[in-house]
Amino acid sequence: MANDYTILVADDEKVVREGCTRILTPEGYMVVTAANGREALDKLAAQPVNVILCDLKMPVMGALEVLEESGSRYPHIPVIIITGHGTVESAVECMKKGAYDFVTKPFRADHLVLIVRRALEKQDLERRAQQLQEERARNLYDLATEQSRLRAIVNCMADGVLVTNRDLEVVLCNPALMRLMELSPPPAQPAPLEGFLNDDTLVEALCNPLARASTETAFISQELQRGQTHLRALSALVYGPDREVLGTVTVLHDITSLKEIDVMKSNFVHQVSHELRAPLSAIKQQHTVILEGLAGELTEKQQELLSRSQARMQGLLDMINDLLDVSKIESGHAIQEQVPLRLDEILKETAVLMNEKAAEQGITLQLELEPELPMIQADPRSMEEVLTNLLSNAINYSPDGGTVTVSALSHGEYLEVRVSDTGIGIAQEEIPRIFDKFYRVKHPDTRKVVGSGLGLSIVKGILEAHRGSVEVESEPGVGTTFRVLLPTISPSSPET
Ligand SMILES: Nc1ncnc2c1ncn2[C@@H]1O[C@H](COP(=O)(O)OP(=O)(O)OP(=O)(O)O)[C@@H](O)[C@H]1O
Ligand SMILES: [Mg+2]
Repeated sequence: MANDYTILVADDEKVVREGCTRILTPEGYMVVTAANGREALDKLAAQPVNVILCDLKMPVMGALEVLEESGSRYPHIPVIIITGHGTVESAVECMKKGAYDFVTKPFRADHLVLIVRRALEKQDLERRAQQLQEERARNLYDLATEQSRLRAIVNCMADGVLVTNRDLEVVLCNPALMRLMELSPPPAQPAPLEGFLNDDTLVEALCNPLARASTETAFISQELQRGQTHLRALSALVYGPDREVLGTVTVLHDITSLKEIDVMKSNFVHQVSHELRAPLSAIKQQHTVILEGLAGELTEKQQELLSRSQARMQGLLDMINDLLDVSKIESGHAIQEQVPLRLDEILKETAVLMNEKAAEQGITLQLELEPELPMIQADPRSMEEVLTNLLSNAINYSPDGGTVTVSALSHGEYLEVRVSDTGIGIAQEEIPRIFDKFYRVKHPDTRKVVGSGLGLSIVKGILEAHRGSVEVESEPGVGTTFRVLLPTISPSSPET
């Protein structure tokens, strides 16, 4: 709104002052007047002014002095010089000293309005440019503060941090990373990761998802061992706004103390289980002697009570044996003796052993073996344990009878064993947890099934120690299939 603008008219001729007021007031400007330069400066000090119209020659103080004063005190106010025809040269001199423009007397109304408007526009533009510049300076300052704050945080972190660009060049790493990986500082320029990092496993782990850049492999967790130190490396891909891969971020956490505690726990469980097994076996043995009547005749009631407590003792012994297996697998001592092996025999033997249990529950046990199964390198007792656990689960969790099928087929480099049942199945959300130690799914139909929840964790541990894997597919109410994969050895292999 023009109303918000104040124009100061300084001229010793009353007629000019009045003329300007008459022209500018209807345009919506506030007009204040001064009869000389001194008065003009007083008015400037007393109130905000947007444009000064100033006569070149005035008694007391002329335009040049006004320009000098206002230029230093109010540099943002444009000054327009009012001049006669004969003094245009002096007006030009004033412009060199900082005046915005000049008008020659007598001036036309529209010309005056135009020149004032232009001066105001210029002032507006200058103000906006100044604001933008201030804002930019503020943003740059904020950014610099934020950057140095982030750098300070990353450098103080106890965990190692490593950032690479998408060409796998190191762009940031903190002192903790250098300490944990025993590295010397990288050069200032982005350095290739391979030359910088002395751990091939980590380099490979970062290369793979970058090459594929798929969301499913966007997050990798792996353990690294460096002498006595155990580290967990968590790596993630960094994406830009359009989902393009920008690089990787890896956080390295020292888990040595956790590993030590884990070993202590395994040793403790192992010791306690071991100490419990001997006396418990002895008690069970003595019960058997009593039950067989070798210590005197028993009443029916005594027989029944003793049988029941024997079954409970057997349950306890099974659990202790499972715990011993778990601790053996965890300490890496489980798979003592890996030999070239044909799985057919073990599959048949285990099926025969489990057949009685299956028949008791009205379950048909089927064996479907491909002829000429390839050999594997494995510990026979551990393989028996895997199959016994999977088969006993298939039977236990099929309370209404049905069929349990064990099949084996070759995929060249891998041998696949499948144990399928038509039992109660496992809900999708439970599947990730059934391999956890002591985890059992609650189901109304299997409340009577005795178990400790260790079977599948033993199966998984054994298979991983054989460089194999186990997967499960299941549909509640329809059935479950466990698929075991084990690497084969070719007959020509030197291992055979
Ligand atoms: N074939 C299956 N069908 C349905 N549920 C199953 C099957 N196999 C395993 N489960 C579920 O997974 C859980 C874990 O199995 P796991 O063999 O580890 O322990 P468990 O059978 O309960 O005890 P144990 O240590 O004696 O084997 C079971 O409690 C059961 O709920
Ligand atoms: Mg089980």
